Amino acid sequence: MRTNTGQIVHLENYRPTDFVLERVDLTFELDPRETKVEARMIFHRREGVSPSAPLVLDGDELTMTGLLLDQVAVPGTLYEATDDTLTIRGLPEAAPFEITVTTALSPETNTKLMGLYRTSDVYCTQCEAEGFRRITYFPDRPDVLAVYTVNIIADKASAPLLLSNGNYLGGADMGDGRHFASWFDPHPKPSYLFALVAGDLGVVEDAFTTASGRDVALKIYVEHGKEPRAAYAMDALKRSMKWDEEVFGREYDLDIFMIVAVSDFNMGAMENKGLNIFNDKYVLADPETATDADYANIEAIIAHEYFHNWTGNRITCRDWFQLCLKEGLTVYRDHEFSADMRSRAVKRIAEVRHLKSEQFPEDAGPLAHPVRPTQYREINNFYTTTVYEKGSEVTRMIATILGRDLFKKGMDLYFERHDGQAVTIEDFIACFEAASGRDLKQFSLWYHQAGTPLVTATGTYDAARQTYTLSLEQTVPPTPGQSSKAPMHIPLRFGLLLPDGSEARPSAVSGAEITGDVLHLTERKQTVTFSGIPSEPVPSFNRGFSAPVNLHLTQSAEHRALIARHETDLFARWQALNAMALDNLVKAAAEARTGQPIDCDDALVDALLAAAGDDRLEPAFRSQVMSLPSETDIGREIGSNNDPDAIYAGRQAILAAIATAGKDTFARLVNEMSLSGPFRPDADSAGRRALRNSGLSYLVYADGSPDKAADAFSSANNMTDLSQALTLLAHRFPDARETADALAVFKKRFADNALVIDKWFAIQATIPGASTLDRVRALMSDPLFNASNPNRVRSLVGTFAFANATGFNRIDGEGYRFLARQILDIDTRNPQLAARILTSMRSWRSLEKIRAGHARSALEEIARASNLSADVSDIVDRMLK
Ligand code: ARG
Ligand code: ZN
Repeated sequence: MRTNTGQIVHLENYRPTDFVLERVDLTFELDPRETKVEARMIFHRREGVSPSAPLVLDGDELTMTGLLLDQVAVPGTLYEATDDTLTIRGLPEAAPFEITVTTALSPETNTKLMGLYRTSDVYCTQCEAEGFRRITYFPDRPDVLAVYTVNIIADKASAPLLLSNGNYLGGADMGDGRHFASWFDPHPKPSYLFALVAGDLGVVEDAFTTASGRDVALKIYVEHGKEPRAAYAMDALKRSMKWDEEVFGREYDLDIFMIVAVSDFNMGAMENKGLNIFNDKYVLADPETATDADYANIEAIIAHEYFHNWTGNRITCRDWFQLCLKEGLTVYRDHEFSADMRSRAVKRIAEVRHLKSEQFPEDAGPLAHPVRPTQYREINNFYTTTVYEKGSEVTRMIATILGRDLFKKGMDLYFERHDGQAVTIEDFIACFEAASGRDLKQFSLWYHQAGTPLVTATGTYDAARQTYTLSLEQTVPPTPGQSSKAPMHIPLRFGLLLPDGSEARPSAVSGAEITGDVLHLTERKQTVTFSGIPSEPVPSFNRGFSAPVNLHLTQSAEHRALIARHETDLFARWQALNAMALDNLVKAAAEARTGQPIDCDDALVDALLAAAGDDRLEPAFRSQVMSLPSETDIGREIGSNNDPDAIYAGRQAILAAIATAGKDTFARLVNEMSLSGPFRPDADSAGRRALRNSGLSYLVYADGSPDKAADAFSSANNMTDLSQALTLLAHRFPDARETADALAVFKKRFADNALVIDKWFAIQATIPGASTLDRVRALMSDPLFNASNPNRVRSLVGTFAFANATGFNRIDGEGYRFLARQILDIDTRNPQLAARILTSMRSWRSLEKIRAGHARSALEEIARASNLSADVSDIVDRMLK
């Protein structure tokens, strides 16, 4: 096993390869234990490179069985193979030459799920970021683009289906029980986009005609018998293809687009050219087994991977430091797609909730890094919420600063200038500068400075002069490797609301550039004066969450309630209510900690109930309003010396107060929001289910009896309602007979549906309280637990560590010790998965000192272990630094 080989890679050391790769021909003879791979690569020396420079190829855990130069064996004196490189000397000075490398692989024992591996008897590959080097020696970096031909030979009975990138060339029976197929991808691509799938799968077929009239065959491959569950994914794919034509002017470019769903996958999905490979969790859905959230995720991830065809594949990254070039931009595109398919405001609320609960903590802890980092030890650890979600927010800010039309012009220029290239963030930004004539130098600090900026605002009104003055100040907190920061360009959308709820129209503004409703904050301190303001206004800041910042603005509950009633921006209404709730929850946590009575503000209860019961508002929005900030959100707001038990107790008390006060409203919602007729996964129906379930959970809370939840469980006719009812039972009444019965019924009914059983594990892993650890331990010996399936491990171990604040952060430190042992065990099989789950401890330094002490010991225990992977060792070292 490789131990700790991760060398630090620095952006400043980037230089192009010495040799240009022109073409690749790959032949796979598939076998579970002895797959033979022959890679023929045509190279030529780049102009100006020394004639004696050797060719250095990347490798990882490879067994090489042959090496030829122009079909002649390379003598041992002219090459050297180490653990991770193959160096070949004595190559032609200028003429092209062919290198043939033959390797032997064992897909079946590849538990890292990188390179070529087996999942449920299917051969499949995952090459991003550096998995191709586990297949053959190769210049495995994104700036090496080549045209690939792939020949696949396999046993015909067990692998009737042979797939790779591009267009199908042909195939034939080989007469010995084997057959072959050939694929040719005309689009030059980096190796991380290579894919191969072989096995016996069912297929759902459809077709799409592009705007210019190209007919594209669409195929989604799933396990036999699961074809009906791929219908929604197919629908989402066709909508994505159409949307990308309409909104970004991007057409698909091959005759076929394929998606394969597999059950063992480290991440969500992968955008391999023409052959996307998906975690089946993001493909398979039907009403009986998928929740509304599952449907929304499938829609978003199908779109995301499809959109990569232009933002990622046609235009790719020069090096892995530029990962946000494709990921941040593609997340932005999938966010916009979902916003167009669903309710824009509700989608934005969900995005911001996710950003604040995942990315803000990352940016505030030991793993903080810039959206475009400058160094890494293990690139797999940089597929982070900062690169993806903050990267998307940065793209969104460009659109906000430039406005719709200039943003579009910049995107068009990007596609025109860089199609077929491997480029950098600087290239991307230059397109928007050229299209708009605007200098984005200061703005680009968003890519380079880590940490969530803090904006403080105070307003004063001068009645005599009818002016309103805002004093704004920004600070960016220090982060690892970056102790001091320069002021950023922060585009803040805002409005000044007058007491009657209308919006003030200032006659003049000084002190800041204002475009439309965007205030451009560019200095460390800025004073902005608005004239012609008839009475003291209530400022509403960061409409639509135009900038990913923390905003400190002391505002009374009454002022927040005014925003919640009158803002024209629906997101801002939710934001005001959420801020009001957060103030109260922080106070409640402090009261719980010191044993004082917990006080719930009447203004909060009134405002929440008013919004929840307001039939003019869409149900999904009302449900978002009713869902209080999470324990993580409260902890982040408190910032340091956190006690998760106090946060939990405070939050429960506020929930109880709202539940009691709102009984009638909630009962009405449960009645009015029930749906009849067949299940439909659309956003409106999902919104009604969400609001009904929010109402139900408050009612159950007020009741103190499991009856209503048990009834909901028995009468549910879709997975959203069923899993919600089970969650209510398990979380509120973990020891009740009703809960044990429901858990047993659920398990029995879905025992052969892995994705649903993942929910069964996750619901139990999130039961609040110290005793859940014992439950989690017991569940690990359940026959349905499977330590080698990433989804299953994430659903139990991952969910417990990421989403159970009271259970995981037990005061005796047992949660951390448990996790440490799990991480060490998982690491022996799948380092990427282990490293990812370990990031659940990223906020350990903000815990109170007893817990923080236990957390540190657990991290040190991991750090001390021998044979740690580079993945885990990178994370644990950064967390302890
Ligand atoms: N590019 C894929 C996606 O969009 C993620 C693949 C990451 N894989 C990995 N092994 N790090 O979203
Ligand atoms: Zn992506």
